[in-house]
Amino acid sequence: MPTNKRHIQELYTQKLKQADEIAAQISCGSVCVSASAFAEPPAIMDALTGRALAGELTDIEHNCLLAARPWRYLAEDLAGKITHNSWFSSGASRGVVQSGRADFTPVNYGDVPVFWRNYRKADVAYMTVSPMDEHGYFSFGITASENRAIIESADKVFLEVNSYMPRTLGDNFVHISEVTAICENHRPLPELAAPPLSEKDRKIGALIAERIPNGATIQLGIGGMPNAVGGYLKDKKDLGIHTEMFVDSMVDLIEAGVVSNCQKTTDRLFSVAAFAMGSQRMYDYIHNNPAVKFCPVDYTNDPRIISQNPNMVSINACIEVDFVGQVCAESIGHLNFSGSGGQLDFVRGANWSKGGRSYICTYSTAKDDTISKICPMLKPGAHVTTPKNEVDCIVTEYGIAELKGKSAGQRAKALIAISHPKFRDELTFEAKKMNLMV
Ligand code: COA
Repeated sequence: MPTNKRHIQELYTQKLKQADEIAAQISCGSVCVSASAFAEPPAIMDALTGRALAGELTDIEHNCLLAARPWRYLAEDLAGKITHNSWFSSGASRGVVQSGRADFTPVNYGDVPVFWRNYRKADVAYMTVSPMDEHGYFSFGITASENRAIIESADKVFLEVNSYMPRTLGDNFVHISEVTAICENHRPLPELAAPPLSEKDRKIGALIAERIPNGATIQLGIGGMPNAVGGYLKDKKDLGIHTEMFVDSMVDLIEAGVVSNCQKTTDRLFSVAAFAMGSQRMYDYIHNNPAVKFCPVDYTNDPRIISQNPNMVSINACIEVDFVGQVCAESIGHLNFSGSGGQLDFVRGANWSKGGRSYICTYSTAKDDTISKICPMLKPGAHVTTPKNEVDCIVTEYGIAELKGKSAGQRAKALIAISHPKFRDELTFEAKKMNLMV
């Protein structure tokens, strides 16, 4: 690896291209993989899409764990030219997956690097990074995630340098010598607004927060409810953060002096995350900040690592829960909605942690109180995210059902007790019909 500073600068100049020149190096039939979320590289994606629209490229498989923007490549007229493979669908990609024009890959988030190392081979990897430092390293910025693994899997690696990408620290760098070509495209990153909190979010947040002990290490999942919990932790002491997604509420907790990370046994005194999405204020906070370590997701989401922290508390959301405690968090019936993400990784990590707990939260109903999210059976074809043998606590605005150690009948009873009152008789009737209650 060259370390001579003049040589590094020469390499940069040699490798610097236009996005069009980079897209020209991608051939028909290529398996491409992008860094996910807001690290998908816009100039490269536009150039690649332009070639496909011009009829120069067909049969591209574009893998992106989380395609978070309404990309042109998702449009119907690119069917057969660029096929998206989603590993966690967003509002932008879900409809395309559900229509069959894009495919999806079932995976626990923590296993994504292993998939690229052992089961899939990429021809091309591309990603947005922060500017090169004097030693020749680019930081992966807000998405460390599976970037190291996709670089090692791919024959060609293309970087899009964006000076707005925070230079985050941790185990998240790529060296100029590992890269095929670079382009520059400096534009502000998209922001993810924190969802407005409903009265139910507040109730659920408060219920969970009162059970979180001082010194706990927390993971907050995606969606409104997990984030609501953050707002209720302002009176806690010495919390730690070991999470996959770093969110705005964590900056609030750090700045309020609630997070010290001093009770952690891994990465003591540091917060740890695999990626971040949020406001510019948060991006500014993590820029060049050693207090937050960004690490590959096969580290952050490894239950053996997570569980080393005592009092690990994992908080995630779901779509529905059946009477035995099977949790669906990623599909509506057979239709892909999002993905497994790291829910099971963190449920397992919390299960194995001394004093650890996992909370899966949900409103008691969906669709204007017409559907109970506590149900006798999951919808036909529903994808189980957390299996019945790993589930711990389910939380609705009516309370907490502790399922661990309980029999099937006891689980049904505990879950019905936190269902919406208008469904309780019907659910009890069904539980009796299923011989779970007498
Ligand atoms: N039946 C039918 N529709 C349902 C439903 C059910 N049981 N439960 C929810 N829905 C609908 C809602 O009405 C809503 O529809 P709308 O968009 O038309 O309003 C939609 O599904 C989303 O529900 P909502 O509760 O608003 O979702 P959310 O944004 O809070 O996200 C998850 C919740 C479960 C989808 C999200 O946490 C997720 O994708 N989790 C994946 C696994 C995970 O936890 N990973 C760890 C963190 S990455």
